[in-house]
Amino acid sequence: MKLVNSISEMKEFVSEEKSKKSSIGFVPTMGFLHQGHISLIEQSVKDNDITILSIFVNPTQFGPNEDLDKYPRNLDNDLSLANQAGVDIVFHPYASEMYPSGYATFVNVERITSALCGATREGHFKGVATVVCKLFNICNPDRAYFGQKDFQQLQVIKRMVDDLNISIEIIDCPTVRESDGLAMSSRNTYLSAEERQQALVLSQSLHLAKKLVDSGELDVVNLTESVSKMITSMPLAKVDYIEIVDAMTLQPVSQVKHKALLALAIRFGNTRLIDNTILEV
Ligand code: PAJ
Repeated sequence: MKLVNSISEMKEFVSEEKSKKSSIGFVPTMGFLHQGHISLIEQSVKDNDITILSIFVNPTQFGPNEDLDKYPRNLDNDLSLANQAGVDIVFHPYASEMYPSGYATFVNVERITSALCGATREGHFKGVATVVCKLFNICNPDRAYFGQKDFQQLQVIKRMVDDLNISIEIIDCPTVRESDGLAMSSRNTYLSAEERQQALVLSQSLHLAKKLVDSGELDVVNLTESVSKMITSMPLAKVDYIEIVDAMTLQPVSQVKHKALLALAIRFGNTRLIDNTILEV
């Protein structure tokens, strides 16, 4: 496995592989790898001749009061996990090369970025779309792998790829959970033991909603209320949002018909956790 920091070296590697007609899979991450990231890597290794993993804590997707500085990092451990999982090349660029002075270009995906996380994290998806677009241009993959854990992000990337005629297949991968149901996240490391215990309510409330839908409750107000009641029964939980929206457009719906997305963003202390599930009739 090779570690590359410079954009020009990365492009050189990619063009060499392209000349050999290798198929390239790409997994963009911010590092501090866990089994969720590894599941994306494993899918890419299965599907492609070459797998590129990027590790870059992208400053443009963090708001001024967010956790950019304290975002967890452990490059040595990431490299060893990546190597074990079959990554061929790790791209770990410098922020100063990704965003040199004078940098002025951003990708703004409209509409679906105004709902859910976009409503409370202003500019977040602009930063995500911009860095992913840049990474796509640098790594030029055939396929790129994203987790359903960040459902809105996945939809934003799919929209961008369609709208900007980017010839990369976007593959979505299921959410990987701890054995007690907590969705894996690099940010779980911020949780105290008590917060982590109470955070189990996220996945439990998703199960509750699924069960209610199965038993015929399709009214979004009633479903949201039941989920909210369960979550707010945890004293440390502060609701950022609990929403049921159309799974394609992320616009509000009043009844669960076809595919709806139940999405949660809940704070425990300073830690904001997200989770989601598809509700289907
Ligand atoms: P990061 O949070 O590191 O996540 C990288 C990828 O791993 C994303 O596609 C995310 O959805 C996926 N992932 C995270 N937790 C997962 C889980 N429990 N199960 C399955 N997949 C999971 O998302 C980002 O980084 C950044 O916004 C990025 C796309 C790299 C742009 O900077």
